[in-house]
Amino acid sequence: IRNDAAEVGEYIGNYIAKRINTFKPTAEKPFVLGLPTGSSPIPTYKHLIGLVKAGKLSFKHVITFNMDEYVGLPEDHPESYHTFMFRELFSHIDIDPANVHILNGNAPDLIAECKAYEEAITKVGGIEFFLAGIGEDGHIAFNEPGSSLVSKTRIKTLAYDTILANARFFNNDISLVPRMALTVGVATVLAAREVAVVVTGQRKSLALSKAIEEGVNHLTTLSALQMHPWALIVADEDATAEL
Ligand code: GLP
Repeated sequence: IRNDAAEVGEYIGNYIAKRINTFKPTAEKPFVLGLPTGSSPIPTYKHLIGLVKAGKLSFKHVITFNMDEYVGLPEDHPESYHTFMFRELFSHIDIDPANVHILNGNAPDLIAECKAYEEAITKVGGIEFFLAGIGEDGHIAFNEPGSSLVSKTRIKTLAYDTILANARFFNNDISLVPRMALTVGVATVLAAREVAVVVTGQRKSLALSKAIEEGVNHLTTLSALQMHPWALIVADEDATAEL
């Protein structure tokens, strides 16, 4: 638990840098990093950018896989997760764009796209470290309430609560929010060697308490993390209000 979102970002940013630097990635043995979007990881990304600029961290041999992407939103739309990732992180660090993987929500065959994504993760030896945020309903990636806890990458219809929550990025007009997304599954996240979740702000506090203090259940998909052998939640004070 840290005081605020900035301190959470600093903590987890340093943590990721230490993991990557200890791993000593090379072209033959790259570090495979899973990444989220949303406002929660922005302070972490800012901190990582600072570490790269200071010469304390390099993404040269880091391969990334993003958690999710909207279906049907043009890739260059300002709110696509593709645009978000380049704006908030990738354009400011020394990552090779060929090492960046983001689901294509405009693929002609979305089922094939999801299958290929899982295969690409397997091909590089699985994800070493998955960073995540959570939705107000406790979803991880876009694994909405009711998602199977053994799910892999697939198409999900967004919950109405998520559409409402994300309307803030679409001029507060819910009709502009995509209705579907491609997302890694709960099992895809759990398969990572280590998982860390950033939870900030009071509006996440109920979800956090359900995920930690109640049993593992598919209504709060973050709760599945209770079964992971190496998981970390980094929260600010506000997010712990209901614990
Ligand atoms: C979306 C993303 C999630 C993210 C959530 C929270 O639903 N699919 O991966 O965790 O938003 O966003 P924020 O951090 O802006 O609250």
